[in-house]
Amino acid sequence: MRLTTEEEAMLAGKEGPAAAKAMEILFALGEIYGAEQLVPVVSVQVAGVSYGNLGQAGLDFLCEWADQGARVVVPATLNPAGMDLKAWQEMGIPEDYARRQLEIIGAYQAMGVTINCSCTPYLAGNVPEFGQHVAWSESSAVSYANSVLGARTNREGGPSALAAAITGRTPAYGLHLERNRQAGLVVEVNCRLTSAADYSALGYIVGQTAKDRVPYFRFNSGPQPGLDELKALGAAMAASGAVALYHVEGVTPEARSRDVLAGGAAIVAIESAEEGYRALDGTSQAVDLVWIGCPHASLAEIEHAADQLHGRHLEAELWVTTAREVLDAATARGLTSRIEACGGRVVADACLIGAPLGEMGIGAVATNSSKAAFYLRNHSHLQVRFGTLAQCIEAALKGKWPV
Ligand code: F3S
Repeated sequence: MRLTTEEEAMLAGKEGPAAAKAMEILFALGEIYGAEQLVPVVSVQVAGVSYGNLGQAGLDFLCEWADQGARVVVPATLNPAGMDLKAWQEMGIPEDYARRQLEIIGAYQAMGVTINCSCTPYLAGNVPEFGQHVAWSESSAVSYANSVLGARTNREGGPSALAAAITGRTPAYGLHLERNRQAGLVVEVNCRLTSAADYSALGYIVGQTAKDRVPYFRFNSGPQPGLDELKALGAAMAASGAVALYHVEGVTPEARSRDVLAGGAAIVAIESAEEGYRALDGTSQAVDLVWIGCPHASLAEIEHAADQLHGRHLEAELWVTTAREVLDAATARGLTSRIEACGGRVVADACLIGAPLGEMGIGAVATNSSKAAFYLRNHSHLQVRFGTLAQCIEAALKGKWPV
C-alpha cells in the first residue's frame, strides 16, 4: 500500500506514539486486504463500548492509547454502552458494572470522541452524504450508511475505527471501491410486509441466503419500504449474514443512480417472511422484559409504541432503547412521559446485548427485532420471543406472550 509523505511520517512516529500505533493498524489492514492507498474519512463510528463486551482487557487497551496522547481528528461517535449513562441506577445496573462502563466512556472522552452512544448515529446528527467515505463499526449502521445513505464504509472493528478517527483515514478496499458494490443476488419479494418486524424477519432469511453477495431487492407486493423498515431489514441481514450493503430497486440511492446489478446475478423469490419468525421465536409463555429499539428506535417508532399502549398499565418491563438526541426529542413531544406513565421506560445510550440482564433477574425477553432475537438466542441463556410490535406491546401489558 502506498502512503503519502504525511502518512509515512505518522507511521514513523513524527506525530507521537498514539498516531503511529493508529497508522500501524491501518497499514497492516491495508496490506492484508490489498488496498492501494488510504482514503480520507468524514466521520467515524466506534464499536467496543459496552463493558460487557470489552471487559477489563479492552478497558486497559483504551486507557493506554488515551494515555499515549491519542486524539481524534474527525467527528467520531460511539456504539451503545451496556447502560443508560445517566439513568443506570433506575435501570437496576449493578454498581461495579456501571463504574467500569463509565471508565470506558472516560477513555473515549479523553481521546475527543463525542459521547453519543448509538447504533443509529444517522438519527443523531452523524449523516454522511452520498459517495462520502466513512469508517463505521456497528454492523446495522454500516448497512444503513452504505445502502440507505449511499456512503462508503467497510465494517470496521473497534481498534481500526478508532485508528481511522485518530488519523482521519481508512484503507481503500472492499466497499470503498465501486466495483465491490455491485449486486450479485436479486431478491424478488412477492409477499406483502406490514411491519418493521416483517422486514426484520425477511432480513434474517435473506442474510442467511446471501453468502457474500450484495442483495438487490424488488418489492413486488404492497408499498415500498420506508426508512424504519430499511433500518430493520439491513440490521437483520447484517446479523444473520454479515451483509454490509444492499440495494432496493427504485428506493436506495445507488440503485437509482447507476446500474448496480452484476451480470449473471442469482435470483431468489420470497413468498413469506414466516420462516424468519419461526427460526427465532421461542416458546416461553412468561415475558419479563420487552425490548423495542434494536437498532435504536426512531422518533416515529417511539411514538408508535406509545400509541399502542393506550395508557394501559404494564405487567412486564418495557424498555425502548434509542439515541440520546432522539430521547430528548421524544421527551419534548411528551412521548417519554406517556410510556413512563404506563410503567415503561425510554433508555438512551444502551444496547441490551451488552447489559447484565441475567444479574438483573431477567429470564425472558420479547423483541420485535430479529437481530436482537438472534444475538440473545446465541449469546445468552435468556428465553426469547420474536414478534411484531403489537405482539410485543401485548406481551408487556399481560406479562406473557399473547396466544
Ligand atoms: Fe444496536 Fe445493539 Fe441492536 S448495537 S442494532 S441495539 S444489537
